[in-house]
Amino acid sequence: MTVQFPADFIFGAATASYQIEGAVAEDGRTASIWDTYSHTPGMVERGDTGDVACDHYHRFGEDVALMKQLGLDSYRFSLAWPRIKPDDGPVNAAGLAFYDKLVDELLAAGIEPAVTLYHWDLPQTVEDQGGWRERATAERFTEYAAVAAGHLGDRVKRWITLNEPFCSSILGYADGVHAPGAHEGEGALKAAHHLMLGHGLAAQAVRAAVAAAQVGITLNLASVQQVSDSPEDIEAARRNLLIGNLIFTDPVLAGTYPEHGKEVWAPITDFSWIQDGDLATAHQPLDFLGVNYYFPSRPKASAPHEPNPADRVASDLGFHSEVHEGEYLTEMGWPVDAGAFTDLLTWLRDTYGDALPPVYITENGIACPDVVHADGSIDDQDRIRYLSDHLKAVKGAMAKGVDVRGYYLWSLMDNFEWARGYAPRFGLIRVDYDTLERTPKASFDWYRGVIATHEVD
Ligand code: FCB
Repeated sequence: MTVQFPADFIFGAATASYQIEGAVAEDGRTASIWDTYSHTPGMVERGDTGDVACDHYHRFGEDVALMKQLGLDSYRFSLAWPRIKPDDGPVNAAGLAFYDKLVDELLAAGIEPAVTLYHWDLPQTVEDQGGWRERATAERFTEYAAVAAGHLGDRVKRWITLNEPFCSSILGYADGVHAPGAHEGEGALKAAHHLMLGHGLAAQAVRAAVAAAQVGITLNLASVQQVSDSPEDIEAARRNLLIGNLIFTDPVLAGTYPEHGKEVWAPITDFSWIQDGDLATAHQPLDFLGVNYYFPSRPKASAPHEPNPADRVASDLGFHSEVHEGEYLTEMGWPVDAGAFTDLLTWLRDTYGDALPPVYITENGIACPDVVHADGSIDDQDRIRYLSDHLKAVKGAMAKGVDVRGYYLWSLMDNFEWARGYAPRFGLIRVDYDTLERTPKASFDWYRGVIATHEVD
């Protein structure tokens, strides 16, 4: 069945600074927590780092030419805080100059820039002073946001404050599987709160600096599926919804925190770090909500809660994702369920009603075992199938009344997949990490057709 998207629907693609730029020590950039983490033995598979990545810092001209060939309406990328305010110190003109060139090149190609201010590369010096556990980090983030918006705001109108604060807080400070690799209880909850505060303050700063700004935040949300009727699994699903969604969607869209969280985490914190007015700050009027979706969440009750507070927040995640026997899994080990994408979008609308602003899908995609044929071609039919099914799922949500305005595919090109290094490939364009040569895959041609016709088969 063919589905048709509206004429003004935006088709884009997304990347992030640390995953593609490389040039980590050039033009005044200083270390981020991901430089430190990836250079710590044992943290990233095979010891991969973002030192060179896709070398986009030097090859952005070639990359924008490929985007133009693809026909992108919009390109979502992130700014590296440690390029713009190295060590969180004075503004670095050379860092801003790189983004000037990139933005100008995009505009000349007729592609709208969509900027993410924070896609996880916190300056290491800020982490050394406590990172997101500290309230001051929200203020420092806002100062950096004001500089970036003030400088680029004459040309960049679409701004995303944070990418996936769930990952920055829970995966970074509780589970330790992302930078800075901490295993804490209260620290992770504080990080989540200060990210919410930073979001609100930065949204205000962007509006103050940019005329006609479109401001939003990107959340990765769980499409929670209850795996059984056992009380333990029901509670696991409730916790998954709490920690995966509500501690972010409630402050941003409703200016509240879920009561359930106060009960669950009372043993590990007194919440004294939440100040009057913080939730009002986090609850800024938004022009859009960015939603990232990859796989369904099937929370299964795990071991009983740990007495140790650090383990408690991690185990309060309360689930691991059930995988069905014989089920197709992506290279990330993720199950595939496009229907769960529609369910997530309708859940958002049903939960927040008129408080839900227009939605943009800011990431969706798949890592496949791409095979390079003798003639150099990559016939990634698994990716095409996934993207087609998931675009149809978005259209399904729109048919049910969810106001979705655009879709950014993850990712434009293969890149540094965080703790998994370079092995999982998400790109429409293959990157040969020895030669840095770019090769469009079959999915590139397929997506070009989708963008040209607004039709998905
Ligand atoms: C998301 C991240 C993005 C990318 C995809 C696969 O969680 O925002 O940078 O790594 O997953």
